[in-house]
Amino acid sequence: MDTGFWNEPYGTSERLWSGNPHSQPPEIVASMQPGSALDIACGEGADALWLAEQGWNVTAVDFSSVAIERARRAASERALRVEFKVADLDVWVPEASFDLIVQFYLHVEPERRTFLHRRLQPCVCEAGRYLTVGHHPDHAQ
Ligand SMILES: C[S@@+](CC[C@H](N)C(=O)[O-])C[C@H]1O[C@@H](n2cnc3c(N)ncnc32)[C@H](O)[C@@H]1O
Repeated sequence: MDTGFWNEPYGTSERLWSGNPHSQPPEIVASMQPGSALDIACGEGADALWLAEQGWNVTAVDFSSVAIERARRAASERALRVEFKVADLDVWVPEASFDLIVQFYLHVEPERRTFLHRRLQPCVCEAGRYLTVGHHPDHAQ
């Protein structure tokens, strides 16, 4: 799955996802003081925007320029500051560390996933959290 694979569905619908954040961030961040957060594979940015609303300083990355443009527009409509970046997570390395990294439904091959987690794990601050949520392979049946 490359940028073209994802730009196509984003480009052919006004909104691909619900626009609502996933249920897990509220549960996970409830006990945390807002700090810096990174949303990887952020899509249209619903979780990034929710975190920003809670006072987090958010960076959000996706390689679909169409999704990022939509997320930027949504942030501007809600007067929220989020640093959105178009970048390929196979090669992009953050320049900073984060108190929270969230990764929702980025489905890549197991070896790429392990590689990504190993690369990003040092970018989680001490006592920070890396939350990753995805489908179980059984969901595909
Ligand atoms: C299923 S969507 C999930 C979007 C969002 N996290 C959510 O849960 O609504 C997967 C996202 O991963 C992005 N993606 C896939 N591979 C990527 C990569 N190598 N680098 C950056 N983004 C990637 C796609 O563009 C897409 O927006």
